[in-house]
Amino acid sequence: MMAPMGASHPLDLLDRAIVGLDRALRTVAGVHAAHRASPAEAVPEADLDAGQREHAAALMRVNHVGEVCAQALYQGQALTARNDAVRASLEQAAQEEEDHLAWSADRIRELGGRPSLLNPLWYAGSLAMGMAAGALGDRWNLAFLAETERQVEEHLGGHLTRLAPQDARTRSVVEAMRADEARHRQTAVALGAAELPEPAKIAMRAVAKVMTAVAYRV
Ligand SMILES: [Fe+2]
Ligand SMILES: [Fe+2]
Repeated sequence: MMAPMGASHPLDLLDRAIVGLDRALRTVAGVHAAHRASPAEAVPEADLDAGQREHAAALMRVNHVGEVCAQALYQGQALTARNDAVRASLEQAAQEEEDHLAWSADRIRELGGRPSLLNPLWYAGSLAMGMAAGALGDRWNLAFLAETERQVEEHLGGHLTRLAPQDARTRSVVEAMRADEARHRQTAVALGAAELPEPAKIAMRAVAKVMTAVAYRV
């Protein structure tokens, strides 16, 4: 494991590594419990035909993959952050990402779909990217986080136009996640995120496009 520079006590590091491993295993196994009840619980199931259900399940699979990546990203951030205050401030966001993970997994199941078979791969790739960003220092780590949240927010907005209009139950989950992602981005910016250079943003979009196309199917 890559040792963060300027890190505190070795036992703290070991602690963080164990918590991280536990989080990785739970994420990939899909056994996260939400801290907040899913917004879908308050919304009745709409009348959807088979195609609409399948489409909604596939879109929620894409969102679930996004949340698997968010877990890895926040974990990479926690492993590499130099500043304890930064790490603590992002814990709230990381906990909300766990809710998203559980909510989207629940909704996939309700719609009769299944999570992506490639989740271990998505997790590992995102953890590597998160740690690479972290190696550049907190400002860039936060920049990567802020830009990710911004792109996820946009992406969820796109899903709201693609879901069946009457599918209020799925929409309630997507809307709540989008509102959280906007706040996560603001948190990262408030903590001092740099603005990523345009080519980095374009590269991130390209990677996200491939991921979403694959996750829609697999
Ligand atoms: Fe999220
Ligand atoms: Fe987020």
